[in-house]
Amino acid sequence: MTAHGLEPFIRDLPKAELHVHIEGTLEPELLYELARRNRVPLRFRTVEALRAAYQFHNLQSFLDIYYEGTRALLSEQDFFELTWAYLERAAQQNIRHAEIFFDPQAHTERGVPFNTVIRGIHRALEEAIPRFGISSKLIMCFLRHLSADAAMRTLEASLPFKDWIAAVGLDSSELGHPPEKFVEVFARARAAGYLTVAHAGEEGPPDYIWKALDLLKALRIDHGVRCLEDPALVQRLVRERIPLTVCPLSNVKLCVFKSLEDHNLKTLLDLGLCVTVNSDDPAYFGGYITENLLASQQALGLTRHDIYTLARNSFEASFLSIDKQQRLIDELDRFMDAHAG
Ligand code: HPA
Ligand code: ZN
Repeated sequence: MTAHGLEPFIRDLPKAELHVHIEGTLEPELLYELARRNRVPLRFRTVEALRAAYQFHNLQSFLDIYYEGTRALLSEQDFFELTWAYLERAAQQNIRHAEIFFDPQAHTERGVPFNTVIRGIHRALEEAIPRFGISSKLIMCFLRHLSADAAMRTLEASLPFKDWIAAVGLDSSELGHPPEKFVEVFARARAAGYLTVAHAGEEGPPDYIWKALDLLKALRIDHGVRCLEDPALVQRLVRERIPLTVCPLSNVKLCVFKSLEDHNLKTLLDLGLCVTVNSDDPAYFGGYITENLLASQQALGLTRHDIYTLARNSFEASFLSIDKQQRLIDELDRFMDAHAG
C-alpha cells in the first residue's frame, strides 16, 4: 500500500476501541481548564511544560503523572466533559464502538464519590449514541497497587450501577501485583454478572497471563505482548482465540519495546492471534487509534489485509452481541469494497 491515501483509509476505516483509559484521554488543554475551574494547583505552569514532562522510562513513571492529572477531575460535569472530548475524537476516527476503562479508585481515594464519576461518564456515553452513532461499554478497573480489600469495597460501591458497567478489569502497577491477589474480587464480580478482563504481560511475565486466564477467568488480555516468551501460552491463546488488546505507541512510550520497529505486533498477527490495536492513554502516548495504526503500518510494513484483520478483530473481540458484531463487520466489509485497490 502506498503512503498516499493511507491516512484517510485508516482514519475512516470502521473500527472498535477496546483498550482506552478514560483518565488517559485527558489532554493537557482540558486538564488546564479543569484545574483552573476547580482551583487545583498544578506542578507545571504551562500546557507546553506539561506536555514536555510526558517522557517516561517505565509504567510507574507514567502512572505517577497520570494519577497527578486525575486531581483536576472533581465534579460530575468534569467527568462528562472528559468523556465527551474522547467521544468527539473517536467519532472523527470512525470508532463505531468503544469499551472504555475507568479507575474509580483514582477518584474515591481523593474523596470524589463513586456516583459522581460514573454519572458523568455514563451521561456522555448515552448522549454519544444519537450524536455520534458510537455505542460503548464501560469496564471498571481495580488498581492493583491497592489492596484486595479496597478492590472489594469498590466492587460493592459499583453494584447500584451494575447496569451501566459491562466488565471489570485490572490495571496500574503490574510487577509485584500478580493476578492471584484479586481472585476473590474477580469471583465476586463474575457472580454479580460482570465480564472480566485484565492487564497482563505488559511489564509482567507470561505467568501473569496464565494466571489472569486461569485464576481471574479473564476473557481478554490487555496488552499481553510478553506472551511470545512462552510458546505453550501462545498456543493456548490461539486455540482459545483469546483477544489481546495491544497498544503499540504506549509500549514504546513506556519502554516495553525500544522502538516501534522492534514491536511484535506483526509477529502476533502472523501467528494467528486475535490481536487488536488500541490507544491506552492517548493524551499521554502521542495518539489515538488512527495514529497507532498508521505508525505501526509504517514501522512494521503492515499490509492492507493486516489492517483489515485488526479492524475485524476489534469487533469480534468486543463484548457486543454476535448480531451487533456482524452488523459492524458488514459495514467494514462494505468500506473495504468501496476502497478496493
Ligand atoms: N497499564 C497499567 N495501568 C494503566 C495503564 C497501562 O498501560 N494505563 C492506565 N493505567
Ligand atoms: Zn491500559
